[in-house]
Amino acid sequence: MHFIDLFEKPNLIAAHRGDRSHFPENTLASLRGAVGKCDFVEMDVWLTKERVPVILHDETLGRTSDVETFEAFRERLPWRVEDFTLEELKRLDVGSWFYEKDPFGLIREGRVVPPPKNERIQKIPTLEEVLIFSKRHGIFLNLEIKDMHHYASDEEVLETVFDAIEKTGTASILLISSFHSDYLPLCKRLDSGIPTALLQKRRIRNLPELLKRVEADGWHPSRKIVDPATVRMLRDAGYFINVFVVNDPEERKKFFKWGVNGIFTDLL
Ligand code: G3P
Ligand code: CA
Repeated sequence: MHFIDLFEKPNLIAAHRGDRSHFPENTLASLRGAVGKCDFVEMDVWLTKERVPVILHDETLGRTSDVETFEAFRERLPWRVEDFTLEELKRLDVGSWFYEKDPFGLIREGRVVPPPKNERIQKIPTLEEVLIFSKRHGIFLNLEIKDMHHYASDEEVLETVFDAIEKTGTASILLISSFHSDYLPLCKRLDSGIPTALLQKRRIRNLPELLKRVEADGWHPSRKIVDPATVRMLRDAGYFINVFVVNDPEERKKFFKWGVNGIFTDLL
């Protein structure tokens, strides 16, 4: 089965950054945690200083790691991913913050039981590690490629990501999305069989023209910009639509009624 075949099924559920309400986001723990609870998993991709693709959401390391405890990294504030080598990133713990901050309040409610301290540690996964894990466990994966045009050329970003895809033989389990629309046609040049989607937070007037120009197969809008007429128009034109981030069950029902294919949620 190919990722695109998922769209034959209605009402798809995507795990946003893995099962991030039960485990630290964008880690192998949150990827493993999402197995059996969703139709596909979404994760975010950045490149390290030496251009290795890694999985992390923020452009900087402060929120989800213990980078501030490293004396050697003090002068690198604001701790941008692009300023760290893979070896340096792998020294960080991106797991323990979750149990200290309890971002979804599930620990307070007793619905998440923190493991012993030494088992809370998680490492930033490389894209390759996530692809291998996903292939092994039959997980369909939406890779969101973060906008890195300020420090790497579009070609370099895509070639690096596609090297990992080719090396791991994972093209069939993937959907690629980005807010940086210029990445999407390049994806098609590198492997036309991988579905692509344009991410959007703001409404634009010429959406159908833009989707066509960037050769997208789908649209991934914020829940704040979706309306039933646009859903109908794009679905009739053959695009799939997955909406982010929908945590309210009533809102989820509303979007499915309008005809969207799927929703990204934090609450599995
Ligand atoms: O891919 C959907 C969603 O993840 C986009 O927003 O900020 O959570 O990466 P963000
Ligand atoms: Ca994302």
